[in-house]
Order: sequence, then C-alpha cells, then structure tokens
Amino acid sequence: MVNRIAQTSHSTAVKNHLVRCISCGEANGVLAPDFRCSRCGDLLEVDFPKWSEGFAPDPDALKALWRERRTSNAALDTSGVWRFRELLPELDDWGFAITLREGNTPLYDLPRCARSAGVGRLRAKHQGMNPTGSFKDTGMTVAISFARQNKFRWVACASTGNTSASMAAYAARGGMRSLVIIPEGKIAWGKLSQSLDYGAVTCELRTDFDGCVRVLSDIIRCYPIYLLNSVNPYRLEGQKTAAIELLEQLDWQVPDHVIIPGGNLGNNSALGKAFLEMKWLGLIRTLPKVSVIQAEGANPLFRTVHEKQGRELVPVEAETLATAIRIGNPASWKKSLRVIEATRGCVEQVSEAEIAIAKAEIGADGVGCEPASAVTLAGLKKLVKNGLVRPSQSIVLILTGHVLKDPEYTIQFHRGDLSVPRMADKEFRALTAKQSKSPIVLDADAGALLRTLEAEDKRDG
Ligand code: F0G
Repeated sequence: MVNRIAQTSHSTAVKNHLVRCISCGEANGVLAPDFRCSRCGDLLEVDFPKWSEGFAPDPDALKALWRERRTSNAALDTSGVWRFRELLPELDDWGFAITLREGNTPLYDLPRCARSAGVGRLRAKHQGMNPTGSFKDTGMTVAISFARQNKFRWVACASTGNTSASMAAYAARGGMRSLVIIPEGKIAWGKLSQSLDYGAVTCELRTDFDGCVRVLSDIIRCYPIYLLNSVNPYRLEGQKTAAIELLEQLDWQVPDHVIIPGGNLGNNSALGKAFLEMKWLGLIRTLPKVSVIQAEGANPLFRTVHEKQGRELVPVEAETLATAIRIGNPASWKKSLRVIEATRGCVEQVSEAEIAIAKAEIGADGVGCEPASAVTLAGLKKLVKNGLVRPSQSIVLILTGHVLKDPEYTIQFHRGDLSVPRMADKEFRALTAKQSKSPIVLDADAGALLRTLEAEDKRDG
C-alpha cells in the first residue's frame, strides 16, 4: 500500500490557540493523523496562550455576550456550541462550521431520583437531547469543521455507536464521506440505523471497540482520512460547552458535584477542562467536584485508581450491557485523572443491576436515558452512601444519550427478559422487580381494561 502520510498531516492553522502535548508540553504545529505528539507520542490538547499573555476575555462581558446571542437567529449563534466561540479554537473562516444547532440541551430536576438517592435536590443536564441523540454532537461540530477547513474528503471513527451516528450526520451535512468502524453485534440497533441513514460506509468488525480502534489506527497512517475519535483534541473543545451552558443555566452558581459516565474518558476530561478554564478566566470562583462512574465490567479507570494509584492504566476485557461504555483500554485516562485530581472528584463503579434500576428510575421521572447514562444515578447512590456526597449538596448528573438509542434494552428489562453479565437471571429479576413494568396484553374488552386501571389505582394507594 502507498504510504500517504504526508497528505494526512495537517496544520493547526494557529489563530487563537496552540495544540500541545499533555505530557511533554511540545507545541505540535503540524498534527499527525493519529493526533499523537510528534515528540513523545502522548495525547494532545488545545491551549489558549493568549489568555495568559494579557488577552484573556473579560468574564462579565462574555456572560452578557453569550446571553445576548440567545436572541440571535444567525446560524453560529443558534448553536449551543458555537455560541460560546470565545472559548473555542478559532476557524480561519466561520463559514467552515458545520452545525446542526447542537447543544442548547435542557437541565431537568429529577425529584423521584433525588428521593431514591437520598439527596435533597438532583438535576440532570440531558446531553441526549442533541440532534443525533447524544453528547457527541457538541464535539463533532467543532472537530469536523476543522476537517473541512483542512480540506479532508473522508472522516472516520471507531465507535460504540454514538460517535458514529454523530459523525455520519455531520459528514453528510458538510458534503463529506464518512467511514464508521463498529464492533459486530455489540452496538445498539438505533445507533447503527442512524449511520446507515446518514450514508456512512459502515463496517462491522469481528472484534470489540478496542480492536476497532487498533484497526483504524492502521488505516489513518496510510490513507488521507481525518480521525474523529476523542483523541482528536478539537472534539473535546466542543464538548466543553456543555459545562459552560450548564453554568449559564445555573446563573453561574457552581454546583458541588458533577457526575459523568466514563468510557473512553474524553467527555469528563472535556467538561473538567471547561470548569478549570472558566475558573482561570474568572467566570466562576470555585470548582465542582468532577466524578466518573464506570460499569463494573468495563472499569479500567476504577482499577487504575484503586490498584495502581493512578500511575499506569489497567486495561480490562470490557463486558457490560451499557454498550456505549463497553471500553477496556480508554485513550484519555491521563486527561481524566488530571481532572478528577484537580477538582477533588472520585471514580466509582456500579453493577448491571444498579444500572438497570437507575435507568428505570430516570425514566420514571419522565426523562429517560440510555443505559450508559444511568451509571451516573447508580454512582451517586454509592457516593451518598459512602459519604462522598452530602444530601444537602447541589448535584448535576450528565445524561449522555437519549432513551430511544437502545429501546431493546428497555423492552427486555420491563418484560423481564434481560440477561446481564456476571449475575444469574433469577438474582437480577429479584433485585429489579420493583422497577420493571411489563406491558399488559388483554383481550379487546373495556371491562378487562377497566379492571386493570382500578388495580393500578389501588396499588398507587
Ligand atoms: N455515554 C454515552 C451515551 C456514550 O456514547 C459514551 C461514549 C459515553 C457515555 C462515554 O463517554 O467515551 O467520553 O468517556 N461513546 C463512544 C462512542 C466511545 O463511540 O460513541 P467517553
């Protein structure tokens, strides 16, 4: 195969930012196709050197400007990502931006979930309310716009489903081709169907997510294709805006605790970066604790912290029905640990039964989410029990994916057909019986329906 590496590297086209290595600090003027540091091979991040050279934006002026943009109908202003562009890497021309009006997601109160977790008040920022149904859109709009600026025809990602759905949509909007690489039979159907509809070349490989990442890293070395996994530092820049928008929705009152699901560990790194930058710029005075929750069967960060004190990654063979976070060898583990340490957060793990119960409880609050998002509520319950979160504190869960992303899980759970890893079916059903609500099949008879209604009414008391 011809080695076309020269064509795939691209310039950072420096305007307001540099791209630096998180380990050796090297400024990478030309980005390698795998977004690894040219000197030491570690991950890169976007840095805004002008902020420390006396050109930091004024915090009050920023708040007023962002608020004012909410009344504007200009395409960039109606995006809940680009509305905050002063804290994002600048494009050479804003016309390169590919947007689907992402961001602008709701902040909900979850009163029943609060009771079940034993806290006074609980809120959820629902990133599943983005255009393709997950938080990935907020990062995708930024990274793919840089792909367009750098004149790439092809973009690609390895994915557990949501990144691929998002990438495929944005590529289609921008008139670009997209290559999706997913583990065969291990992603939710809803997500696969999106990639197909948006016209991506969709390849299901006989491996897991970590295997897909390995194959794609070979491809990008020899084909001019722009990588859109979360090792791409521009993805994380876009994902930062959920934290900015959250603070704006809270009238800049900083919550005590923000709880985030952990998979490849890009999202918590992004939100943490945003909180740290906002504090540095004077938009907020304190930091929330940023905590990460993993599924017990996909817990490399939890094990890294508890077995190796964060010194080296403990990769695992991942197995969980929360397929979006079925990841054993997360790329951004160092960035994630940095954020957890800087904000004094923690890492927790939760079982499949705890995830299923939490998902049904979030549903019962009229909100709903996909299984990976429900780890946040399950994790909060543990943090309350072990005293890391106090009931009077202000807590925000980040819900990352829409309830309709994985309807099969939901239906199987409520029908009592769900089999989970590492737990006997009988034990799982006994634990989750209270939350599962099977559909009721009746004859077409008003009397039978009435009796069902009355029985339900009595049960509610
Ligand atoms: N929640 C959902 C719904 C996800 O899709 C993902 C990741 C995560 C949480 C974890 O976020 O990786 O930044 O720690 N999904 C990926 C994908 C990896 O390919 O869609 P993370």
